[in-house]
Amino acid sequence: MKPGSDGGKQGQFPSAFAVEALDLCKIVPDAAGSLTILDHINLTVASGQTLAVRGASGSGKSTLLGLLAGLDVPSSGTVRLFGSDLSTLDEDGRARLRAGRIGFVFQSFQLLEHLTALENVMLPLEIGSAAVDQDARARALDLLSRVGLADRASHEARTLSGGEQQRVALARAFVTEPTLLFADEPTGSLDSATGSTVIELMFDLNRSFGSTLVVVTHDPEVAKRCARRLELKAGRIVAHDGEAPR
Ligand SMILES: Nc1ncnc2c1ncn2[C@@H]1O[C@H](COP(=O)(O)OP(=O)(O)OP(=O)(O)O)[C@@H](O)[C@H]1O
Ligand SMILES: [Mg+2]
Repeated sequence: MKPGSDGGKQGQFPSAFAVEALDLCKIVPDAAGSLTILDHINLTVASGQTLAVRGASGSGKSTLLGLLAGLDVPSSGTVRLFGSDLSTLDEDGRARLRAGRIGFVFQSFQLLEHLTALENVMLPLEIGSAAVDQDARARALDLLSRVGLADRASHEARTLSGGEQQRVALARAFVTEPTLLFADEPTGSLDSATGSTVIELMFDLNRSFGSTLVVVTHDPEVAKRCARRLELKAGRIVAHDGEAPR
């Protein structure tokens, strides 16, 4: 099937690609005139595939992840998620597309600092009725215990250490069992034992639910476990290896 030929009607004719980027550029104004952050990026990630994005600090990794997830808009080029062209959707439409299907782990965690760890993890779950709330609470607690934070569930996020905040952010991204997970240096603040636990969680998600993973990482272990790796340099893809893009 031609990529994206379902016109976005996910479920009826799902696209073979979870992510497609076509000629993506991000250019911002700066003192010298303009700064090119991403320069004609083309990539596809098949549903269920795992991709590691590497590159030096400032090479454009976080910018690329934000564009692919529809959190930011490109200067030119196209992003399609599950066959839907993001440029045809407004902010609400993009949020609806993400809801429940796409998880994002921010490099800066982005927790709501006055909410507890548990409340942060429950945020992406639809809550309302008492029965649903009970279920959401149980799932959120399960995720918190899987990242080793059951005993911090009632602590406000602002009182947690950097590594603990990162684990809450991971639990929040996993709680909906997303079909597509974007993670920006998810083990950057963790010791190697805790890092290994969250890496296992990430690859479990891929195995158990066929979830697609796009992971920015400096960790060679994470990169090695991904089916594909690409490297960015000054906003361009300079190396690409692993399983051929499908
Ligand atoms: N909104 C913006 N305005 C101006 N410059 C920006 C903007 N966003 C990003 N940049 C610049 O673009 C470059 C790429 O930033 P990005 O955050 O994508 O890098 P990165 O590869 O994730 O780096 P790191 O490994 O340090 O997280 C950097 O030089 C950054 O300063
Ligand atoms: Mg970054």
